[in-house]
Amino acid sequence: MEAERLLIKGAKALVGTHPAGTERLAGAALAELPQLEHGWLMAEDGIITAMGTDADWPGVADWNGLEVIDATDRYVLPGWCDAHTHTVFAAPREGEFVDRIKGLGYAEIAAKGGGILNSAAKLRAMDEDDLYVQAKARVEELMRQGTVALEIKSGYGLSAESELKMLRVVQRLKEALPLRIRATLLAAHALPPEYKENRGRYVDLIVHELIPQVAAEGLADHVDCFCETNYFTVAEMERILEAGAKHGLPGKVHVNQFTSIGGIAAAVKHRALSVDHLEVMEPADFDALRGSGVIPTLLPSCSFFLGIPYGPARQLINAGLPLALASDYNPGTTPSGNMNLVVALGCIKLRLLPGEAINAATLNGAAAMGLAAEVGSLAVGKRASFIITKAVPSLAYLPYAFGQDHIDTVIIDGRTIRAGEAAA
Ligand code: NIG
Ligand code: FE
Repeated sequence: MEAERLLIKGAKALVGTHPAGTERLAGAALAELPQLEHGWLMAEDGIITAMGTDADWPGVADWNGLEVIDATDRYVLPGWCDAHTHTVFAAPREGEFVDRIKGLGYAEIAAKGGGILNSAAKLRAMDEDDLYVQAKARVEELMRQGTVALEIKSGYGLSAESELKMLRVVQRLKEALPLRIRATLLAAHALPPEYKENRGRYVDLIVHELIPQVAAEGLADHVDCFCETNYFTVAEMERILEAGAKHGLPGKVHVNQFTSIGGIAAAVKHRALSVDHLEVMEPADFDALRGSGVIPTLLPSCSFFLGIPYGPARQLINAGLPLALASDYNPGTTPSGNMNLVVALGCIKLRLLPGEAINAATLNGAAAMGLAAEVGSLAVGKRASFIITKAVPSLAYLPYAFGQDHIDTVIIDGRTIRAGEAAA
């Protein structure tokens, strides 16, 4: 078969051209977003093979079968790498949204039988094929919004059977769609009602049955736990992280969303890949993260939707730490997986500079999924997965003019997913 070849020429700039081998950006380095102005990029069979500027354009020996995109006045960005989502779910929860407008809190809604347990009841009742069809449509929309790598958690099954059903749906999405997907077992998302009197047995089920099974069947890449007051304790999360590590599934955990109970130090101890949420941080939490290599991941669209505090992005950067931005797409706390909005909120609410927000949503997002060797920056050898913007005056314009659609074209693994004027 003939190689699929792609040339992007005339770009206003290729953005995020980090030196090959850059795995993550921490502290002051997060502000460095290298660019090649007047750039061109070649890809073959879905992999970037060469890049440069007009000044070093080598010409093309064989134009036969070469797809050419004219990116004049447009930026080429690495596609978004969204390292925290719950994209597989059975039904939206806009009723709770209205309850919250009327004044009910997240905890009160959960106590009324809403929240995660509401989603679990609906998911348990839904057929795997129906779940798959719905989730696929959601992920296809995310791809059109520029997401090229996506983590998806289970956690609305809360029984062995239904957690496995969710992970099988994620497996089918991996096989059917061109973007990179990482699957995370989040069986410890809420205590299922049937284990109310015996929570230890539910954690036993996760540790002794589910984790070994999903690892053996290749159904998950990571483990997660909602370590939070009224959900799972630090000791319970530690059991899960330990079992995950034993089976080659590094942790990506929900910690410090509403309270700081020591989850971060425990996640660091067990060498988790990322600690996510962090809306409530104590000095000891920063101390635990220093020098750990664990990637703090903030979810500003969750804070926006719930009206809870935003994560301390500037303090994390000032402490020399890395930082990823992700969407937290889920029906309860963030019914949007739009990473363009996440990047805008990163600037508007977390006070990130545009370059910092873009790095946090691309290379550091990739790192928070263990995918930094494949996606997250424009570099020879990485996947040809990127966004071509509309003609915009500057990069800062993207988060500044929030809520507008600045994407012209989306390419994933060299294939046009969304064709705009540049591809026409
Ligand atoms: O990340 N905090 C825990 N889990 C989700 C919310 C899940 C839900 O309400 O359905 C989150 O915000
Ligand atoms: Fe989440």
